[in-house]
Amino acid sequence: MSKTISGFSKLSKSKKIDWIVDTYFSNAEDAKTKIKQYWNTNDKLQQLHDEFIENTITNYYLPLGVAPNFLINDKLYTIPMAIEESSVVAAASKAAKFWLARGGFKTTVISTTKIGQVHFMYKGDFKKLESFFNYVKPILIQESEAITKNMTKRGGGILDIELRDKTTEIANYYQLHVSFETLDAMGANFINSCLEQFAKTLKNKALNFDLFSEEEKQIEIVMSILSNYVPDCLVRAEVNCPVEKLSEDSNITGEAFARKFIQAVNIAEIEPFRAVTHNKGVMNGIDAVVLATGNDFRAVEAGVHAYASRNGRYSSLSHAKIENGIFKFWMEIPLALGTVGGLTGLHPLVKLSLEMLHKPSAKELMQIVAVAGLAQNFAALRSLTTTGIQQGHMKMHLMNILNQFEANDIEKTALTKHFETNAVTHNAVIEALKALRD
Ligand code: MEV
Repeated sequence: MSKTISGFSKLSKSKKIDWIVDTYFSNAEDAKTKIKQYWNTNDKLQQLHDEFIENTITNYYLPLGVAPNFLINDKLYTIPMAIEESSVVAAASKAAKFWLARGGFKTTVISTTKIGQVHFMYKGDFKKLESFFNYVKPILIQESEAITKNMTKRGGGILDIELRDKTTEIANYYQLHVSFETLDAMGANFINSCLEQFAKTLKNKALNFDLFSEEEKQIEIVMSILSNYVPDCLVRAEVNCPVEKLSEDSNITGEAFARKFIQAVNIAEIEPFRAVTHNKGVMNGIDAVVLATGNDFRAVEAGVHAYASRNGRYSSLSHAKIENGIFKFWMEIPLALGTVGGLTGLHPLVKLSLEMLHKPSAKELMQIVAVAGLAQNFAALRSLTTTGIQQGHMKMHLMNILNQFEANDIEKTALTKHFETNAVTHNAVIEALKALRD
């Protein structure tokens, strides 16, 4: 039976586990063993993980795989990917090899601007608010100098502060809409600290602004927070090759492949039901690298999907066409990433992943992540429009099914061989395992 508890966060780790296993598990000892078997034997490493969040009881593992042979702007990369879905790393590796033989991926960073907003309420004359804003703008910048000093020295900082009138949508609602350059940092802490300082200055200076009436002086701050929508922090990734070079075997010509592939992209451009799944395939690649490099995949997901709806209808992130006999497949996506700060200097596997990627700048990481997304999307569309997705997917899923039925190594070897030439379905695997065991 569930029960409430107060002061849980103050309990020691072992007391927290005692409470959890006694409250929720019929076999408390067994539950405790399951929790503890994922503890790291290196106490310092375990403590590091314990302290990432509150109320840690154990670690939750994801595989960290690698996809080699990515040629990006003529430089070779092996891309680390943290993901649980069976076929993703294999698909990425396949796409990397396919494009390695056709000139690789070309990428450019289009822009790197990030956004934050102070949302506030002001009851009064807009003209007076405008005058106040013009007066207070340099003071906002000046009073945040303690926060921005280091970033400015490195070439980043506050780019602009705008006053935005949102009163047609909500009465008395205005914003300070602020743009930032945060260089190699994702910048969330930097942006939020600046915004909270702006909010303080805005509120305080309004109290003494002579043009304001007593009511106008009472600016009410609602909240100050960065936006994860970053349409001006944009990266482009592209592959291209002569159409006839697209064919790898005699089953399908390059022309036929390109035609079907472009049809599939066109469908995702106009049909939201398909676009969501199409983009999910893109995010398979993106999230896996974002996670492996210690970045915030929820922020990236939110921003990317908002971008996919920017024209009023949710649509494909990627595009494809044939131009003068050249097949082109590309994507522009917003990615706010960091290679310094946050988890990047803390998590040993994040450090390892970044080193594997030649210690990239945030701009370089944007390009690598975009490529992982485009590669994943290419691999999915290639399967979907030729063999169908299940063939490759179920082949990779075979090991999961075998593990579910506790197949031993001999059984795994025999059945992997068997399914090289037989279609993998859940039932077929169970039948084959049963036959082998009988
Ligand atoms: C599965 O994780 C991703 C796909 O559904 C993507 C797609 O349909 O394009 C295969």
